[in-house]
Amino acid sequence: MKKVALLGFGTVGGGVEEVLRVNRDEIAKNIGEEVELKYILDIRDFTGTPFEKQVVSDISIIENDPEIVAAAECIGGATIAYDFVKRLLLAGKSVVTSNKELVAVKGLELQAIAREKGVCFLFEASVGGGIPIIRPLTNDLAANRIDEVFGIVNGTTNYILFQMLQCGKDFDTALREAQQNGYAEADPTADIEGIDACRKICILSDLCFGKNVSPESVRTRGITCVTAQDTAFAEKLGYAIKLIARAKRVGEGVSAYVAPHLISSEKLLANVSGVMNAVVVRGNAVGDCLFYGAGAGKLPTASAVAADLLDAVSGRAKSPEWTEAPEGYVIPSETLSSRWYVRAAKSSALGEKFDCVFSENECAAIIPECTETELSGILASIEVRSAFRIIE
Ligand code: HSE
Repeated sequence: MKKVALLGFGTVGGGVEEVLRVNRDEIAKNIGEEVELKYILDIRDFTGTPFEKQVVSDISIIENDPEIVAAAECIGGATIAYDFVKRLLLAGKSVVTSNKELVAVKGLELQAIAREKGVCFLFEASVGGGIPIIRPLTNDLAANRIDEVFGIVNGTTNYILFQMLQCGKDFDTALREAQQNGYAEADPTADIEGIDACRKICILSDLCFGKNVSPESVRTRGITCVTAQDTAFAEKLGYAIKLIARAKRVGEGVSAYVAPHLISSEKLLANVSGVMNAVVVRGNAVGDCLFYGAGAGKLPTASAVAADLLDAVSGRAKSPEWTEAPEGYVIPSETLSSRWYVRAAKSSALGEKFDCVFSENECAAIIPECTETELSGILASIEVRSAFRIIE
């Protein structure tokens, strides 16, 4: 019997408890012994609930219990969670986490402690919710040189875009539903403004290219700049609009950013709806690999956290690692070429310069491949209302 602890009993933590309890037999069969959830750390009072005996509020109980071999951190944020994870690793316990902020910001340091202590630090659930992506990148695609990784990595914004643009709901209703379904961050600004996607592309970039990318170095735009008019124009032109996080190898560096993009409606990514996420990994041997599944939510995320716990307690895990990046490693995305979608007033010069589609007052065009800096020059005399890259 392996004994584990859970830190944080919110949506994801509740899911982890449920998966370990409901799938107890499958888990025992899979790793050859039972896994017991001995402690649940939470500051709330669970007196009178079935969890009364497991719940503790003092991390040192878990830290000092020699029976505990691993813990799952589902608190979120990079303050208390960081302190607790560090303490447990230093106490020689493996830690698994769904916390993308913690991994993106403190990953290097926590990996070093885990290495020194000979324990695991795993974070499959930090990107793509229930989709296996971290482990395939660490193991199955290890023989590739990865050139690019991009995709839809935030379930809340993909849900909101779908509900607003396909189902005609307003922003606040769509966001409320995402919160009720347990998709959104505690502060949903992190979803809407692309901050959550930024943390995730940092982790993917770190794994794919081996060097640390900090969230501050990633240019990030969220979904608030996408209008119903943009979607209508995009549809007319044969595209869908999605919030894309992308990291691309450029020489010895990497260009990473988050922004709304147009995607040809014929591509699989254009049809990824609701809370679903999809990540494309471009390897020099495998070609394009698409990872698709539920990107957020209680049980899908718990599925990945629990799988990490099983790997940690059974000693079969390989902890993903990366190294410090040299100065200038992150290259500004302004220098990346792509085709562009641009919207402007009908009366503007856009219609004279390019083939356009029109609404009553506005027009939109696809601009041939150029960098963002070149685009600014091309459109210098035009008051641009939207400009989004097209991802090929
Ligand atoms: N808020 C995140 C999302 C949760 O919507 O994708 C999963 O990381």
